[in-house]
Amino acid sequence: ALPLAITGVASGIGAATAQLLSSQGYALIGIDRTTPEDFPGEFVQADLSTKQGVSEAAAKVIALAPQGLRGLANIAGVPGTAPARVVLSVNVFAVRELTRALAEHFTAGATVVNLASSVAFNWRVNAAAYASFAMAADQEAALDLVLADTDIAENSYLFSKHCVRAMTEQLCAELLPQQVRVNSVSPGPVETPILADFKKDHGTDKVNSAAELLGRFASPQDIASAIAYLLSPQSEWVNGTDIRVDGGLVAYRGSTAL
Ligand code: NAI
Repeated sequence: ALPLAITGVASGIGAATAQLLSSQGYALIGIDRTTPEDFPGEFVQADLSTKQGVSEAAAKVIALAPQGLRGLANIAGVPGTAPARVVLSVNVFAVRELTRALAEHFTAGATVVNLASSVAFNWRVNAAAYASFAMAADQEAALDLVLADTDIAENSYLFSKHCVRAMTEQLCAELLPQQVRVNSVSPGPVETPILADFKKDHGTDKVNSAAELLGRFASPQDIASAIAYLLSPQSEWVNGTDIRVDGGLVAYRGSTAL
C-alpha cells in the first residue's frame, strides 16, 4: 500500500493519529523536528519553520515513497507563546508548501487533512483577508506585512488557524482537478503538551473552564478518529470543509469559545 505522510508525530494529536492509522494498516512516513521514541513507520526529521526545512522534508518523503503517496496529514503546529513569525510559518506556510511540494506525488483519491482549531470557527468574517495572506506568493513579504499589525502579531495563533481554514478551501480548489481532497479538523482544547502554552496564552481559567463545562478535555484519540475518517475512503464526498471536534464548545459558547 502507498504510504501516507504525517507531520507532528512526536507528540500529542500527531502521535495518537499515527498509532491509530498504523493499527488500521496504513504505511506511514512521519515528520517532526523531534525524533519520536518509537514510530510505526519511516521517520523524517525536519524543521518545518523554514521554507528550506519544508522542501528538505518533502524531498526526503518523496525519496521514501517512489510509487507515490496516498495523502498527507498536516498536524504539526506551534502555540501563540512562540514568536509570531514562527507561528505563522509553521501553522500556515509549512502546511501550504508541504502540500504543494508533495502534490504531484499524490495518487488520484489521495487526501490532505490540516489542523485548524475551534478558535477559528468564525473565520468567514474575514475569509478573504485570511486567504489572501495564506496564498501570498511572496511568503516573507506577506509575513512582514501582517506582523506590522500588532493585533495580528499578538494573536498570531488565532490568525494562523483562521488562515488554515481559508487555505483548506483554496488548496481544495487547487487540487480538485487532480482528484485530491483537502479538509481540516478544528479541535477544542485537547490534553497534550501544547495545552500548557494555551493556558499561558489564553489564561488558565478560560482553558480549564472548557473542561469544567464539557466534563474533560478532549483526548488526542478523540481528534485522531476524525482525522482518520477524513483520510479514509468513507469520507470520499467530503471535500473542502472543516469538521469541528470540540465536544460542542463552539455551539455552546459562540464567539467566546477557545
Ligand atoms: P503538541 O505540542 O503535542 O505537538 C505538536 C508537534 O508539532 C510536536 O511533536 C512538535 O515537535 C511538532 N512541531 C512543532 N513545530 C515544528 C517544526 N517547526 N517542525 C517540525 N515539527 C514541529 O501539540 P498537539 O496538541 O498535538 O497539536 C497538534 C495540532 O493540533 C497543532 O496544529 C495544534 O495547533 C492543533 N490544535 C491543538 C489543540 C490542543 O488543545 N492541543 C486545539 C486545537 C488545535
